[in-house]
Amino acid sequence: MNKGIAIYPGSFDPPTNGHLDLIQRGSKIFEELVVAILRNSEKTPMFSVAERLEMLKELTADLKNVRLDTFHGLMVEYAKSIDAICVLRGIRAVSDYEYELQMALMNRKLEPTLETVFMMPADKYSYVSSRLVREVAQAGGPVRGLVPEVVEFKLREKLDAASRLEERRLRAKAAKAANTKAKRKNVNDHRDHRSASTNGSNQPD
Ligand code: PNS
Repeated sequence: MNKGIAIYPGSFDPPTNGHLDLIQRGSKIFEELVVAILRNSEKTPMFSVAERLEMLKELTADLKNVRLDTFHGLMVEYAKSIDAICVLRGIRAVSDYEYELQMALMNRKLEPTLETVFMMPADKYSYVSSRLVREVAQAGGPVRGLVPEVVEFKLREKLDAASRLEERRLRAKAAKAANTKAKRKNVNDHRDHRSASTNGSNQPD
């Protein structure tokens, strides 16, 4: 076990089996691992930070040297504030490498004492990403095996709530359209009726 605190920063929207795999691996080699969720006001996440924290709390309950936190702003500043000596990031495939290398080198430029360590999740998770999980779930596809059960449940709960909301919105829209149509018909009927009676009164005897 390595002495010192490592930080595993990310969006975790939602946490996947790949994330969990990396957290488990990281917790074995660092004295303490802080899983830090980025609070990003520019993005519209699927899950709130509180929801992501709750899921991660449940997932890491048995890992005694894993702590959860949130941060905003520069990751290196946050890492410094908690005395982290290392950043843990996962690399699934070569395609991840370019972005991760760029980020690691930028972080090194910003804070030369902070090292980045890359670890690979189990190969069965090499294609799993939060973005794809969201996409599959939103399209009604199965995400079993890609995310922990608690996340699968929360995804279903969220999407069910969203579809109920959408259903209600569509029903309200249809009702409004029907109402407008009925009102328009009423006005037309009234006008027709008036013009018919006006025409009638003009008829010669
Ligand atoms: O799970 P993600 O979305 O790949 O995580 C990306 C994250 C949160 C690690 C990265 O965007 C980040 O560290 N953001 C904080 C802002 C920052 O420090 N940017 C400079 C990184 S080079």
